Amino acid sequence: MKLNINQRFIFTVFLAFLFLGCSLKKETDGPYFGNGFHNGWADQSSIVIWTRLTHTPEGNTNGTKFLIPSAEEHRRLDKEANPEKIHKAQIPEGMTLENMVGACPGAPGEVKLIYYPLLNSDNKTETDWIAVDEKKNYTTQWQLENLQPNIKYVVEIEARLNNQSKVSDKIEGAFRTPPTEKTEEDIEFCIVTCHDYWRKDTTDGHKIYNSMIKMFPDFYVHTGDIEYYDKPEPYALTEELMRFKWDRLFALPLQRKFWTQVTSYFMKDDHDALKNDAWPGQTYGTVPWDRGIEIFEKEQFPYHNKFYKTIRWGKDLQIWITEGRNYRSSNNIPDGPEKTIYGKEQIDWLFKTLKESDATFKVIINANPVLGPDRENKNDNYSNSKYAFEGDQIRNFLNQFDNVYLCNGDRHWQYVTHLPDTNLWEFSCGAGTDMHAGGWDQEDLRPEHRFLRVKGGFLRGEVSRENGKPKLTFQHYDVNGEMVHEEIFTK
Ligand SMILES: [Fe+2]
Repeated sequence: MKLNINQRFIFTVFLAFLFLGCSLKKETDGPYFGNGFHNGWADQSSIVIWTRLTHTPEGNTNGTKFLIPSAEEHRRLDKEANPEKIHKAQIPEGMTLENMVGACPGAPGEVKLIYYPLLNSDNKTETDWIAVDEKKNYTTQWQLENLQPNIKYVVEIEARLNNQSKVSDKIEGAFRTPPTEKTEEDIEFCIVTCHDYWRKDTTDGHKIYNSMIKMFPDFYVHTGDIEYYDKPEPYALTEELMRFKWDRLFALPLQRKFWTQVTSYFMKDDHDALKNDAWPGQTYGTVPWDRGIEIFEKEQFPYHNKFYKTIRWGKDLQIWITEGRNYRSSNNIPDGPEKTIYGKEQIDWLFKTLKESDATFKVIINANPVLGPDRENKNDNYSNSKYAFEGDQIRNFLNQFDNVYLCNGDRHWQYVTHLPDTNLWEFSCGAGTDMHAGGWDQEDLRPEHRFLRVKGGFLRGEVSRENGKPKLTFQHYDVNGEMVHEEIFTK
């Protein structure tokens, strides 16, 4: 783990602003940054910054507990799609959503963004004040362009009431841009999946965020199932409940601190698109597919027109962020040449960009497994027999390279798979907490498994050079940041 001067400096700046933010909060009535801010889709010259204004500085930790409908009632509420009944079945009489545990309601107001290179603070860019969008859950986004590669930027965001001059809250953080394809540089990254509000392992959030921030990764990828709409307390069968779940999750202190500090790529999966194993055209309660996608892509997370992207991180690393929900067929149609998960356009892009890339190591980050193994009864991903046709096409294509590595989320256990007599490797990061882990039997070790652990944690990757020789390291960690497995590849 490296801790260079930039990182130590940013940490100190962060603490100073935390203090400033705290004293501001005591003096004003808001609006506040109870959800912090997060970034997305960084490349050498651009990034998207997202934030939201809130009524309170923190989530409501002492709120009322949700009622939990039975499984049968949940099915009926889903089918009937009556918002009044959905809310009545979960919010106790006389209470509103704002009273419920974890609530972090939005607030109108204006925000201003200031950013500058960490080592050149005179070179500030400052936006005009803009009002957050009350129709989009009091959020706003900035697309920053003309950034320089391989630079650590400081971000400051201020809040105020509409048309008032007094700043009501201030938040500070940072991101870094990737180096260009010419730069030999050590790069460290973390990959996570599957951790929702209720399955957290501390009151402040998920331990993995504490463990990961100590590593100062250059970037981080969340492979989806960031929240679970279709889990109780509450079942998010309306848009209002979906937003409630994001507001609550984003207020968790551990996550909030991490996301303001680290260059991030947020992917979505079934549970944060709509529901388990979801595909286009479905609905969940009152929410049609398209609205589910819009809430994720355009409102709660930094927006990007395609939701898949490849980003070069220096000479030795290129990553591919793929999109596994928007373009897929119905899971229940028979397998064959027409059945798809990535869609033709994305597959053409993936194959073309992989061939064009001269990066030493190519890391494809998928929401779902491509190699597996997965459970026999699943019909949702390329490792399942119901998607074998396109899955085989992709595996055959990838097998021509000896420097392509697959990483995935979705499955709630950690594994390393290497298919014998192929070049194919897959690293499953596993669920974010021990209580969230499961779905595979620890004793069921298959010939292709190089590692198997049915526990929570995360995956860490690193490209580095030893005596000029490029090296890619993948390490699995437990939730406390203890390494449990390592694979090293050299070129
Ligand atoms: Fe999951």
